[in-house]
Amino acid sequence: MSNASSQKMTPLIDCLVVIGVGLIGGSLAVNLKKSGMVKRVVGVGRNEQSLVRGIQLGVLDEYNLDMASAVKDADLVVIAAPVLSTRSVLEQIKDTLPGHAIVTDVGSAKATVVDAIEAVFGHVPENFVLGHPIAGSERSGIEAAQIKLFKKHNVILTPLPSTSKQALETVRALWNSTGANVLEMTVEHHDQVLAVTSHLPHLIAYSLVDTLARQDSNLEIFRYAAGGFRDFTRIASSNPVMWHDIFIANRKSVLESLERFSAGLEELKIALEHGDSQKMLGIFTRAKAARDHFTKILAHRAYVEPMKKNNVVFQAGQSHAISGRIRVPGDKSISHRSIMLGAIAEGNTTITGFLEGEDSLATLQAFRDMGVVIEGPEQGEVKVYGVGLHGLSKPPGALYLGNSGTSMRLLSGLLSAQAFDVELTGDASLSGRPMQRVIDPLSRMGAEILSNGGKPPLIMKGNRQLKGISYEMPVASAQVKSCLLLAGLYARGETRVTEPAPTRDHTERMLSGFGYDLTVRQLDNISREVRLKAGGVLKGTRIDVPADISSAAFFLVAASITPGSDLILEHVGVNPTRIGVINILREMGAHIELQNERNVGGEPVADIRVRYAPLKGIDIPEDQVPLAIDEFPVLFVAAACASGRTVLTGAEELRVKESDRIQTMADGLIALGVDARPTDDGMIINGGSIGSATVDSHGDHRIAMAFAVAALRASGKVQILDCANVATSFPNFVQLANGVGMNISIQG
Ligand code: S3P
Repeated sequence: MSNASSQKMTPLIDCLVVIGVGLIGGSLAVNLKKSGMVKRVVGVGRNEQSLVRGIQLGVLDEYNLDMASAVKDADLVVIAAPVLSTRSVLEQIKDTLPGHAIVTDVGSAKATVVDAIEAVFGHVPENFVLGHPIAGSERSGIEAAQIKLFKKHNVILTPLPSTSKQALETVRALWNSTGANVLEMTVEHHDQVLAVTSHLPHLIAYSLVDTLARQDSNLEIFRYAAGGFRDFTRIASSNPVMWHDIFIANRKSVLESLERFSAGLEELKIALEHGDSQKMLGIFTRAKAARDHFTKILAHRAYVEPMKKNNVVFQAGQSHAISGRIRVPGDKSISHRSIMLGAIAEGNTTITGFLEGEDSLATLQAFRDMGVVIEGPEQGEVKVYGVGLHGLSKPPGALYLGNSGTSMRLLSGLLSAQAFDVELTGDASLSGRPMQRVIDPLSRMGAEILSNGGKPPLIMKGNRQLKGISYEMPVASAQVKSCLLLAGLYARGETRVTEPAPTRDHTERMLSGFGYDLTVRQLDNISREVRLKAGGVLKGTRIDVPADISSAAFFLVAASITPGSDLILEHVGVNPTRIGVINILREMGAHIELQNERNVGGEPVADIRVRYAPLKGIDIPEDQVPLAIDEFPVLFVAAACASGRTVLTGAEELRVKESDRIQTMADGLIALGVDARPTDDGMIINGGSIGSATVDSHGDHRIAMAFAVAALRASGKVQILDCANVATSFPNFVQLANGVGMNISIQG
């Protein structure tokens, strides 16, 4: 028995009259009746046999063939007949409808229903609440009615300013009780949205099946038709009268969407005629990405803003030892850059080991939106069809970059010199991050950028001629450096960037890998200068993305703090500008060996063996800070497990990462009973024992994973809130971690 039938509710409605007891009317009636939301259901229709069947099936209590008399006792009338019959239905019930009765409908086109009501009543009475459940199937008739048809489906209500609040709330409560998700929209918006998402696909399915059915060989076609035909044409079995009415009722919006579709089809036809593979692949890869994204939304796994991000909770605990051999996902920084440089190169770029995390996928999608054909990612393989330095096109809307600061800062450089305006937006965390650090130097180069007080969204104005500048970065930031180098590809004269301390140099290495000339000069012991000029060409290439040392870092610490551990991390990028975490852990006493060191496409790579070792607290050398900037959350965990005091200074940048990583980590560590003291630019931690608590990651992927590592040494369970963003950099973290002996479960 379903919940609806087992838990009786207090009736909201005494007498429900359903006019048109088919799939939708019947499903609503049976649901409300079985749940006890209504006391008595009266069915009205033309086909007596099907009404009798409705009683036998328990959908109806009684039936009436005469609409006018049926509604006399009604408290609620649901019109579930084909849309174009609404006017005739209303004419028949107008005189007998009690004044207090609420009237609602389920039609797929709303403006036409409003017109019908106005034609019959002269206005829309306040008790009329129009609605539309986005549910159904190709089956029709009362036999197809299902008690759970609306569960987790959207129901759109389209109240007018004159609609009574009480009537609206009653209809909302009824739909809520079916398990539906109730939304509100204006009539016009509803009709436009449904024209595209529902009406057009039905129209095309009918047309395709009819066209095939009229061919001489139709028997052959249907006999051998496979899954594709079945999936695509299922909805051509829907009720023809109902759909005829919907198309006519929403004719204007349907025609508009049909026109856009015809233009798209024509474009594809021309591409096919000319054997234009790139054009075709562009259409197919964009469509696949959009459909895959939709599938994620359906499975509630999408990264888009409206998702409730804070409902993924990790529960992590102790473990005996961390051991095995794993390869963590591809390097995030290199993955971003491989798409960016591949897109503006001449010719194709093939990428392997690409990180399929939400951040790098946001970059990939941004370039698709700017007209670049990108195949994949398929198990880390991506093929980018470069469009050249001047081949990007204006995207159809704002580029949504999710949680990714790297995407926004690097793209702002690249896009400050394009021939079009473009807006860059992101999620709540990214929208709070400082962008002035790129706006200032880019503006000096001649870019025009509008921002929200130095924060996203950014609007990059097009058609600006940039000029090269000489820029001494006030903060050691690879993102700022890379942003300016990308802008420099388009600037008149030379662009020169000096960094106060070495930062990751993937952009420089990769530009060289694409055959672009640039000069890197060591100025003194610490600072470096990078120079480049416009006028060169990037040539498509192959890129093998090594595993991300920032993701490997969680396991370096996990194995270091868990007695008995012995773990190998394969094919990890060990670029000297990224190995601060290894240097710091070694200084704390960690047992880390690099094996099989090699060079892969200009980046040093090694397998890393890490074994348990008792750690001791240290003063972290400040020159290591930029080289380990993303690894401090988990290094703080190492410090909490070390004997003695660890002091970090010179790391104020941590306060403006995906969260304020000094405060967020200090709060969590203190909750776990660790002696941790945040300072303006770092933290002081006295190692000791770790307790059990609930900590909040504040949607920061690295904080969430760091606390899962801390749990290895906790006295009890550690519950970590707001972990969905782990998918930005390490989508299979929990699976890999549990595979080597960690103990993490996901709730929500
Ligand atoms: C990155 C640079 C660093 C780092 C970020 C990735 C990059 O940021 O924290 O995760 O790919 O260039 P900053 O340049 O702001 O230090």
